[in-house]
Amino acid sequence: MNALAKKYEFEHSTVLPEVDFNKPAISVVGLGYVGAVSTACLSQLGHRVVGVDVDTIKVQQIEEGSSPIHEKNLGEYLQDGVANNLISATTDLVGAVVDTSVTFLSVGTPTSKDGGCDYRYIVSAARAIGEGLRQKKSYHVVVMRCSIPPGATLDVMVPEIEKASGLKMGDDFGIAFNPEFLREGTAIEDFYAPPKTVVGANDERAAKIVADIYKPVDENVLMTTIDVAEMVKYVDNVWHATKVSFANEIGRICKPLEIDSHKVMDIFVQDTKLNLSPYYLKPGFAFGGSCLPKEVRAVAHLANKLDVETPLISNLSASNSLQINAATEMVRNSGHKRIGFLGLAFKAGTDDLRESPILEVINALVQEDYEVTTYDPAIDPNTRIENQFTYVEHVCPHLKPMVDALPDMMRANGNQVIEQSDVIVVTQNTPEIQELVASAFGRVEVIDLVRVFKDQPMFQGYQGIGW
Ligand SMILES: NC(=O)c1ccc[n+]([C@@H]2O[C@H](COP(=O)([O-])OP(=O)(O)OC[C@H]3O[C@@H](n4cnc5c(N)ncnc54)[C@H](O)[C@@H]3O)[C@@H](O)[C@H]2O)c1
Repeated sequence: MNALAKKYEFEHSTVLPEVDFNKPAISVVGLGYVGAVSTACLSQLGHRVVGVDVDTIKVQQIEEGSSPIHEKNLGEYLQDGVANNLISATTDLVGAVVDTSVTFLSVGTPTSKDGGCDYRYIVSAARAIGEGLRQKKSYHVVVMRCSIPPGATLDVMVPEIEKASGLKMGDDFGIAFNPEFLREGTAIEDFYAPPKTVVGANDERAAKIVADIYKPVDENVLMTTIDVAEMVKYVDNVWHATKVSFANEIGRICKPLEIDSHKVMDIFVQDTKLNLSPYYLKPGFAFGGSCLPKEVRAVAHLANKLDVETPLISNLSASNSLQINAATEMVRNSGHKRIGFLGLAFKAGTDDLRESPILEVINALVQEDYEVTTYDPAIDPNTRIENQFTYVEHVCPHLKPMVDALPDMMRANGNQVIEQSDVIVVTQNTPEIQELVASAFGRVEVIDLVRVFKDQPMFQGYQGIGW
């Protein structure tokens, strides 16, 4: 047993002594790009920080207050922390856990051979953390900072810690997931002005301790569950990659057309109402209407004509079709035959049926002898929609028989649809439709394509398309 651990040599008890979590001492495990910056910045916030790495050179560098990586201002911050006796470093992870109240884990998570996540560094560190916890008597919080697949904190790290410590998560020690969003090159600056701070935790005590650590730099810590926080980190990076690839595809199309792509995107990014905004960014049903499908086809066609490869843009229609198929499959899987649709147009408040994706779902079901009824507040059998039907028939000739039969499927109000259905499919989100769906719970099954309620209803016959 190491010297630090000896200090704390006592039996574990379920009654944990109070620890001052005002400015807890923090061990930072893994002194790479993430860990070195955390070590420096947390010490600047007044925490005593013990950096831990298996790499003795990194440990020595941190001990000396010199930066193991190239990162603006990091050297000065580390030097300052060492001079103020707030930073030390060691290879002894067990001892560091015993010596601190919170452990930040930022070891590497390389890609494994099968393309997944290689957990070997996490597992090895978790075992040592567990060993340290076994030697402690006070409450301790382990904060996972690695980018990992959702579920890995609880399914990979926690079992190792519990096994090695003999302790129980939640009762004896806390777990949190705190994703890292800092950009290399401006990491220190970002630490003090983070784009957001997310803390996922399954118990309040752990959540509060971690949120309090970040309070000096972010008053509005976003609190959530561990799995959501894990997923947020992945989603963020996939989104950034999507933006880069999208912009590059626009550049590839613009160049042969001799259009300045930067002028195009300079204007594009100024639209913060629709382009760079929460709009269109919630999982739900397929896109449709008179513009999006048509323009997506047009741009993919243009790229093709220019002999330019745009896999992202050119696969949007295919991705959209998958969403239509998914909705159809949900209905088939219900096992019921009487299906009601609340909402016919591609969005609420319009009677525009052109390329409404729900027509594809209805068409597939009608061909399979489902009994379909529909209600759309903006459309009734007397609405003059002949021209749109002509359009639908022109663009999608396979829809013609269903379109001809559509007026007979329409009902004057949503209640009639509910009464004549075993399953209702919700395709629009308005107060009227919310009320109808709420009244339908318990009477029919509900397939929700638009997340009609903010919180998922716990009703047994309810299912959402992407939640
Ligand atoms: N680099 C970034 O900008 C960034 C941003 C966000 C998230 N992340 C994630 O944070 C994690 C760390 O990334 P990084 O870039 O800092 O990695 P890195 O490879 O630079 O550093 C990891 C460090 O962990 C050390 N280590 C490995 N096993 C150890 C153990 N058992 N005990 C102590 N130290 C151990 C390694 O020696 C290494 O110094 C990864 O999951 C990464 O995906 C990185």
